[in-house]
Amino acid sequence: MIDSTPRLGVLVTGGGQRLGAAVCEAFARAGWGVWCQYRESRTQALALCARLRDEGHDANAIEADIAAEDNRRALVEQISAKGALGCIVNNASAFEPDTGLDFEADAAMRQIGVNLIAPLSFARLLARSATAGDGIDRCAIHVLDQKVYNLNPDYFSYTVSKLALERAVALQAQSLAPTVRVCGVAPGILYRSGPQTEANFAQASRANLLRRPIDPADVANACVFLAGTPSVTGTTLCVDNGQHLVPLPRDIMFVVDDLLKASAS
Ligand SMILES: NC(=O)c1ccc[n+]([C@@H]2O[C@H](COP(=O)([O-])OP(=O)(O)OC[C@H]3O[C@@H](n4cnc5c(N)ncnc54)[C@H](OP(=O)(O)O)[C@@H]3O)[C@@H](O)[C@H]2O)c1
Repeated sequence: MIDSTPRLGVLVTGGGQRLGAAVCEAFARAGWGVWCQYRESRTQALALCARLRDEGHDANAIEADIAAEDNRRALVEQISAKGALGCIVNNASAFEPDTGLDFEADAAMRQIGVNLIAPLSFARLLARSATAGDGIDRCAIHVLDQKVYNLNPDYFSYTVSKLALERAVALQAQSLAPTVRVCGVAPGILYRSGPQTEANFAQASRANLLRRPIDPADVANACVFLAGTPSVTGTTLCVDNGQHLVPLPRDIMFVVDDLLKASAS
């Protein structure tokens, strides 16, 4: 029998590469219609969606700079015109090194815009896309970072933005109930960032309770689980091999740098 039930859509921000691509892939395989938002990663987003369609899934790449409210509104309207949007995974983020002493207001605002205001706005737009009695279980998933449970002073503005978003999971779940569920996923280190070397990443990715790298597919599958589990709202799932239970005085990248320098001297 052919299943004629329309697929619910999921919007994955920053979906063209790295974790966003893994999230698109997991939702596509779970039967969702995927909207993969990209800004600069056009080539990767188009290739990913073409591959997923070749495999029989429903996936479309869509361009937007999500730093502006008008763009966010237009994006959700464009997608909703094609079918019901059931989930938004707020994955896109800006990650810039700074400290509590040297942060620049413009850079901090840029990160707060993409990492905090955009996710809150997208969840609100998801609520506004609902019509009374449409029976759709909607869920916004904010991608956080184990850093919010394991503070160190590096990447200060980024951490502030994710701390606020973590606190907002419960607050926004209260605010948008019963129309939209709001959940968080807090990954540990998944990919090399900024100036991090391969040697650094190889050690840093094992600095957790399980002493092995975290599989990005596990983070992606956790998002699919939250999106498909109507009883869960206002809570965050750590998918970090227990990294948040291994306190360090600095960001893991800098701790490993010191270890590598010490072993070389
Ligand atoms: N990487 C890790 O090890 C790690 C660890 C813990 C938590 N996390 C969290 O997991 C999520 C994904 O991490 P990641 O490292 O895969 O992310 P990433 O590569 O740093 O960034 C993801 C995407 O965000 C998009 N983006 C940034 N600013 C944007 C804007 N103004 N408009 C539209 N898109 C914008 C970019 O899309 P385009 O390339 O298309 O411009 C970028 O590819 C983030 O929320 C991050 O905080 C990551």
